[in-house]
Amino acid sequence: MDIRLVNLTKVFADKDSEVRAVDKLDTVVPSGKLIGLLGPSGCGKSTTLYMIAGLLNPTEGQIFFGNAEVTQLPPEKRGIGLVFQNYALYPHMTVKQNILFPLQNLKVPKAEALQRAQKVADLVAIGTLMNRKPKQLSGGQQQRVAIARALVKNPDVLLLDEPLSNLDARLRLQTREEIKRIQRETGITTIFVTHDQEEAMSISDEIIVMKDGVAQQKGAPQDVYNNPVNLFVAKFLGTPPINIFKGYIKDGGVFIGEDRILDTELPNQEAIIGIRPEGFEVNKEGTGDFTFKINLVEYIGRDKSVIAENEYCESPNFRFIVDADIKNIVDGRTIKAKIKPHKCFIFDKLTEKRLQ
Ligand SMILES: Nc1ncnc2c1ncn2[C@@H]1O[C@H](COP(=O)(O)OP(=O)(O)OP(=O)(O)O)[C@@H](O)[C@H]1O
Ligand SMILES: [Mg+2]
Repeated sequence: MDIRLVNLTKVFADKDSEVRAVDKLDTVVPSGKLIGLLGPSGCGKSTTLYMIAGLLNPTEGQIFFGNAEVTQLPPEKRGIGLVFQNYALYPHMTVKQNILFPLQNLKVPKAEALQRAQKVADLVAIGTLMNRKPKQLSGGQQQRVAIARALVKNPDVLLLDEPLSNLDARLRLQTREEIKRIQRETGITTIFVTHDQEEAMSISDEIIVMKDGVAQQKGAPQDVYNNPVNLFVAKFLGTPPINIFKGYIKDGGVFIGEDRILDTELPNQEAIIGIRPEGFEVNKEGTGDFTFKINLVEYIGRDKSVIAENEYCESPNFRFIVDADIKNIVDGRTIKAKIKPHKCFIFDKLTEKRLQ
């Protein structure tokens, strides 16, 4: 079942302030897909999710599940499973009791309820831990109990708010793969909220990038990475992050300082130039179009990570990645590199919209 948000808006207002937490959000979450809702802290992710769940009333706009409008429906009538940002299990109940809890109000016969609880517990790989209390589980296992509890009602929609935030790095990775697997196996339409771009990129069929309550861009993760619509999206996606330079367009050339790094058809103007860390091509002779000084070279397995400086860079240093076998990259040297055109984006200096 798809989810359609139409002009969805939430304003939190009291007598001396007003926050537009979500502003005119229009989007479709396709049936059976996992969508990552992504953006910095405070951009309106949880608010969006809680409106979809029915825990918050929109100030404006509508929510549809399939063809049915659910904007006014209470949460329990929406057929959703929700895992909160700070998921809380009932500490005095066993895993089994925690998972069964949502079924109690639904008057599901006991034998069937037990069977369903075991099935979702097996699905999230905690089926053998049913008699333990939450404090006897690892963080990742507790997380999976919370997911099992959200799934036990056979919801049409699964809503996950930063479900991995309490886990250490390794468990986060493991659990996110697990969530992807569960989502694929159940085919349940899922919205996954996170501020971690790498997490969203790695498991989502599509991502929606939000800023200040406004959706900036939606698409397959790699498409958004390769074709950001503005500076914010370009900066938000990618590790190491994109490198930003002050530049300008003059007579068909893109310039950083004196260096003419690329051709362009854009008219003459000042511009912001973003170059992805994989967008620098260094050859044996150290020749090219863009000049920089190498400060530090780090070996990171297959690659070399180079920390360099250029006076037009937004920050004191920038970082790029080349193959480990590239010679000529030596601390303290000033050399040149070619810039790969499809890894270099030009943004309007004022609007920060992408021009090329
Ligand atoms: N009940 C509320 N009353 C007033 N303002 C609120 C309320 N809930 C959220 N806000 C504000 O709305 C904005 C969006 O909040 P929201 O919780 O949706 O952000 P978020 O993207 O989930 O952030 P985080 O990544 O930190 O969880 C914030 O500016 C927040 O301060
Ligand atoms: Mg939140």
